[in-house]
Order: sequence, then C-alpha cells, then structure tokens
Amino acid sequence: MDMEDLAEQIIRLKEEQDAILLVHNYQRPEIQDVADYLGDSLGLAMKASKVDRKNIIFCGVDFMAESAKILNPDKRVVHPIVPPHLIAKCPMAAMADRETVLAYKDEHPDAVIVSYVNTTAEVKAVSDYCCTSSNAVKVVNSIPEKKIIFVPDEHLGNYVRRSVKDKEIILWPGYCRTHVRIPVQEVLDLKTEHPDAIVIVHPECTDDVIDIADEVFSTEGMTKYVASSDATEFIVGTERELGHRLRKENPGKKFYFGKRAVCPNMKQIRIENVLNSMKTL
Ligand code: 13P
Ligand code: SF4
Repeated sequence: MDMEDLAEQIIRLKEEQDAILLVHNYQRPEIQDVADYLGDSLGLAMKASKVDRKNIIFCGVDFMAESAKILNPDKRVVHPIVPPHLIAKCPMAAMADRETVLAYKDEHPDAVIVSYVNTTAEVKAVSDYCCTSSNAVKVVNSIPEKKIIFVPDEHLGNYVRRSVKDKEIILWPGYCRTHVRIPVQEVLDLKTEHPDAIVIVHPECTDDVIDIADEVFSTEGMTKYVASSDATEFIVGTERELGHRLRKENPGKKFYFGKRAVCPNMKQIRIENVLNSMKTL
C-alpha cells in the first residue's frame, strides 16, 4: 500500500472510530501530515484535555500518551504499538524512578519536587508540580518555596536555574540522548557557514550550546518564533524532524539542523502502525 492510500484510510478511520490524532513535532513526516493536532508536549497535553472524541490516537513517546490518559481518564488513549510488542519510549523519562525521587525528598525535606513532563506517571505521582519545556521557568517562578528538586533533565534544570531568581535548584543527573548529540562545535561551524542565520535551541541542549544561542524555545515556541521573524535562515538546535513542519509552514525560509539530532524512539512509530492501532483500537 502506498503512502497516499495509508493516509486516506487513516483519515476515513478517524471518522468511523470517533478518534482524534494527536502528533508530536518529532514524528515521521507522513504521520505529521495526517495529524488533527501537531505540537509540543504542552500543546498536546492541553489539546488532550479538551478532546470531545471517544478515542485519542497519540503519536509520540510513552510519557506523552500516558499524560494524555492522566488528563482524560474516561477516554481511550491509544499509543501505537510497533509489532511484535515494542512501544516508543523516552529514555530520559526512564532515568528517574519513584524510589530515588522519594529518597531525594527525604534528604531535602524543605524542598519541593518539580518534575518535567518527560517522566513516568509514578514519578509524577510523587511530584509537587509538573512542567514542560515551554513553561518550566514560569512554573518554577510561580512556586512559593525556595528549594526545588528538578527531575530529570539536568540541562533544562540548569537553564531554569539560570533564568529564575532567589531559588535553590537541585539537579537530577538525567539528560536527553538526542539533544546532547548537538555539540557546540557543530553549531559554531553552522554559524560560520550561515552567518546571517539566527540560532534557536531547545533547553534540553547542553549549557555551552544554550550559551551561544540567540533564543531558547520549546518546539512549539520555535514554530511561533520562526513564523513571526523577519529572518530567513535559522540554525535549529533540536530534533531534525521539526524541520518538516518548519519548511512546510515557512516556504521561503531555510533551516539547518545538527546531523545527529535524531530521536530514534520517536521514529519507532510508522504510519502502518498508526493505521493498525486505529483499526483495532
Ligand atoms: P517539547 O515539549 O518542546 O515538544 O519537547 C519534548 C521533548 O521530548 C523534547 O525532546
Ligand atoms: Fe526523550 Fe530526547 Fe526523544 Fe525528547 S528527543 S523524546 S527527551 S529522547
């Protein structure tokens, strides 16, 4: 079956199954193209909480689908399975477990736990607050307590630490394997090659990359910034597939990504898996 047939079947099944297709910005291009809503973790969570359909088909990694279910306990949330029994997992979310979070809490009884949405439900359950990359600074700023344990991304945590005042932030040693594969030298080389390009990076990047960036955004923040900017060239420090959406929405503009900035976990889901999961729910 070719791509067009697969896409047509998915669009038809959405009606028949009373389903909505929520898709993260790092998914394969052909899956992005059949999305009802394409976005970042915050946008997807917000969209999931307003869904009026019976079934949510969630194309992203495990914690995103799990968060959609937490927000919609009465709805069926389908996370496409990759045969025989693989699921797309975020390795960073797997770097924090409930027992260790509780041990940190015991060690720092005056601190509150802020967990990144990239965590499992059992870690969220023992957290005081939950944030995404697009609202982490706002969430931490809004907390009355001074001492915060930030779980699990040390790079996002350090970015928050540098962006807020009067807070003591204890970092957890977690990181994103994809964003740490964007070395500062590669960004500097891209800047030499494209001197007029604006550098926009995700806060999961390492500190040295964040230091040389013009702007720091979540994936959705990047799409909004690019759309409203007069600049025509951008060096983008995040997963390469965001380029599909950026190029589609901004035909006159050019985007340069790191060569190794690929999240293999996000790529596990193929359009055939989406179709199968929609047939069987
Ligand atoms: P966004 O919330 O910016 O989409 O990021 C999610 C993520 O997993 C980044 O690696
Ligand atoms: Fe997890 Fe990183 Fe992939 Fe995002 S890009 S899903 S944080 S591994």
